[in-house]
Amino acid sequence: QHKHDFLHELPKCEHHVHLEGTLSPDLLFKLAKRNNITLPNHFPSSIELCNDRYEQFADLQDFLDHYYIGMSVLIQEKDFEDLAYEYFIKAKNDGLHHSETFFDPQGHVERGIPIETVVNGFNKACIKAQKELGVSTKLIMCLLRHLPSANGLATIESAKPFYENGIIHGLGLDSSEKPFPPKLFIDCYSEVKKNFPEVGLTAHAGEEADPIFISDSLDLLNVTRIDHGVQSYRDDELLKRLAKEQIMLSLCPLSNVKLQVVNDVSELPIRKWMEFGVPFSINSDDPAYFGGYILDNYLAVESRFNFSGEEWVKIAKNSVNGSWIDAARKKELI
Ligand code: ADE
Ligand code: ZN
Repeated sequence: QHKHDFLHELPKCEHHVHLEGTLSPDLLFKLAKRNNITLPNHFPSSIELCNDRYEQFADLQDFLDHYYIGMSVLIQEKDFEDLAYEYFIKAKNDGLHHSETFFDPQGHVERGIPIETVVNGFNKACIKAQKELGVSTKLIMCLLRHLPSANGLATIESAKPFYENGIIHGLGLDSSEKPFPPKLFIDCYSEVKKNFPEVGLTAHAGEEADPIFISDSLDLLNVTRIDHGVQSYRDDELLKRLAKEQIMLSLCPLSNVKLQVVNDVSELPIRKWMEFGVPFSINSDDPAYFGGYILDNYLAVESRFNFSGEEWVKIAKNSVNGSWIDAARKKELI
């Protein structure tokens, strides 16, 4: 109880949460009904069967196959707003102060939903989160790496107005990792960096794939953060580099267990990162699918690693410092 309260009060920032991954079975079926969506036959037909399906995924792809169908219930601007705002409320109740959230526009545009519907809905929720909950937010647009980079470039083109007016703050890269190395997206990242040098760049790397995906994301895509980065533990030279350049890894402990990246949270290379001085934050990834929001992820780490109060403060400070916020907001949080 003491540790629970302590972790609840710790000033937490989240850097790795997919808004589509906050779609609970409850809201999923509610929206399916509201929007008259017929889900395919192989999709679980009730909240209960969904929860059974979420007990364990075989790997990242097994999860994604379900996740892309799930998001097909999102149609109206209001659906996107409700989805994101429900997440902000839950995260606020967990003691979250700042959230940098991913979304996958291509997963919606390919179903005929205009990118404006998606972004305007999410942005309304962000404005409300700041105003009603005091939670600061950033939107990070992710490209799906299983789609051709030309599709990524077209998506960037269609998102330019939102980069220009500051509604979108970052670029990320997600979806099936192993068959789609960072080099495929050099043009996409350079296009955003060239036009919007102030925009934050990050990419999923080393979730399932080799550590070279992490160094290639740094070298070829110019990212300043790495999402997951778990496989970095296999390369000491890379760990030294991550420490030297203070590249923050956005760790998602419960996700890594559900997708069988590790068998248990205790196997995550957190001690090694601390020894090498590699900064990391603790995040929920797709909390509606992986059995917990941000505080559950902090608690899962605490129950396996039993960090001291001092170590937890250090972790919290690193996650404030790794956030894409100005010095004044950092000072408020620390
Ligand atoms: N999209 C949503 N969650 C993801 C994850 N953990 N890895 C890659 N793509 C994702
Ligand atoms: Zn992710």
